[in-house]
Amino acid sequence: MADKLYIFDTTLRDGEQVPGCQLNTIEKIEVAKALEALGVDIIEAGFPVSSPGDFNSVREISKAVSNPTICALTRAVKNDIDVAADALSMAKRKRIHTGIGVSPQHIYDKLKSNPEEIIERAVEAVRYARRFVDDVEFYAEDAGRADNEYLARVIEAVIAAGATVVNIPDTTGYCMPWEYGAKIKYLVDNVPNIDKAIISTHCHNDLGMATANSIAGVMNGARQVEVTINGIGERAGNTALEEVVMAFRCHKGIGIDTSIDSTLITQTSRMVSNLMNMPVQANKAIVGRNAFAHSSGIHQDGVLKNRENYEIIDPKDVGVSDSSIVLTARSGRAALSHRLELLGHKREGAELDKIYEEFLKLADSKKDIRDEDLLVLLGESAQNAAHDKIKVKYIQILTGTLVPTATITIQIGDNTYTNTHTGNGPVDAAISAIKEMLTTKVTIQEFLIQAMTRGCNDVGKVHMQVACQGRVAHGFAAHTDIIRASVEAYVDGVNKIFNLIK
Ligand code: KIV
Ligand code: ZN
Repeated sequence: MADKLYIFDTTLRDGEQVPGCQLNTIEKIEVAKALEALGVDIIEAGFPVSSPGDFNSVREISKAVSNPTICALTRAVKNDIDVAADALSMAKRKRIHTGIGVSPQHIYDKLKSNPEEIIERAVEAVRYARRFVDDVEFYAEDAGRADNEYLARVIEAVIAAGATVVNIPDTTGYCMPWEYGAKIKYLVDNVPNIDKAIISTHCHNDLGMATANSIAGVMNGARQVEVTINGIGERAGNTALEEVVMAFRCHKGIGIDTSIDSTLITQTSRMVSNLMNMPVQANKAIVGRNAFAHSSGIHQDGVLKNRENYEIIDPKDVGVSDSSIVLTARSGRAALSHRLELLGHKREGAELDKIYEEFLKLADSKKDIRDEDLLVLLGESAQNAAHDKIKVKYIQILTGTLVPTATITIQIGDNTYTNTHTGNGPVDAAISAIKEMLTTKVTIQEFLIQAMTRGCNDVGKVHMQVACQGRVAHGFAAHTDIIRASVEAYVDGVNKIFNLIK
């Protein structure tokens, strides 16, 4: 049986500290429930003394969630601990996470103190927290830059004072993986009472090593990892939950596993990205849009023969329905024939060669080869393909302090339709107006707006994943007017999906 690795999720605390990522209590409860379904062991729900909003969120999450332990952060300050204990009072399982800086930088420059006083304050905070809860985690802030001998003294003292979990944060993301691994091993070998507590990793990603460092920590004895969904967090972020979980799933021989239901990873990632307005980079490991997309001819051919030729994870294991084959000028015959077959047009031999030649010419001049382009190549009348296409003719939006209202005119073939709809914002109003004019329901599964550069005159790039009758398509558009870009991206997705299902 594999050794259990505890997943401590801090999306709602360290992740939520990022400017622009703040959630209200309702949204935090939604994320907490998703984390519970995902199977995380501990949810760090907030830092209650920091604001009444944070206090309230910890309290409400404590009521809404029952399986995971709910954790609240404090400084090594009595009032912080009092407030955290109060916020956690309704939680079925509760933990107080208290701590203090232990690196020379933090001891002398941040806390204006000295090493012996820091140990006293750490011990006092842990003892005080134990008055309220049985589960107390101690964080040795900036342990990544701390002297190992001193760190071992701190850790021994806090365990003796009652800490049940000892967190060794690489707060500034400074360590190299072997250095962080050696730090954990040093504690395992030199703290006499270390068997009385679980060692936890908490790694930041300033050098892009957060996941590597967390894994190095686990390989040397840590049995809890502190992570966030999509790796969001201060500066370059925290360790990404999905990366650690899938690394141990892919390397079963190590004999370490988590209780995470990996099939819920993608939907949780999208939910957090949408609620926190933090787009996930397309090439992000596990959850990026391209994580299972193949575009070069050699790879496409290999994947079509056997997915495992170029994939170490079955996309279904993380909740993605299938690998995707993106048609570009670098695609080969195998990928083209596969896509044509999906469109219901099996072509082989000389016939396929001829279409492939035409396809390459088109792909050289056009980045994005759509299904309707292929239909035209196949000789289906271009008129037919264009006939079904929905075109946006007119958009008028009223917004501001009024109820957002959109009037949209679209053209389908020779017919023109106009509709007016309200919504909770201008985009919602516009998309709802279009939805009502369609005879088939097309839902939005993912909606991302990205600024291309910076500044208020920037172009907004919109990506929309839409679904209909079990098929999925991606619509794209870019415009300085983000409402127009959103409408066009939706219509682009609708046109693509109608081509797939007709
Ligand atoms: O990075 C860090 O050191 C932290 C602690 C507060 C746990 O987030
Ligand atoms: Zn942190």
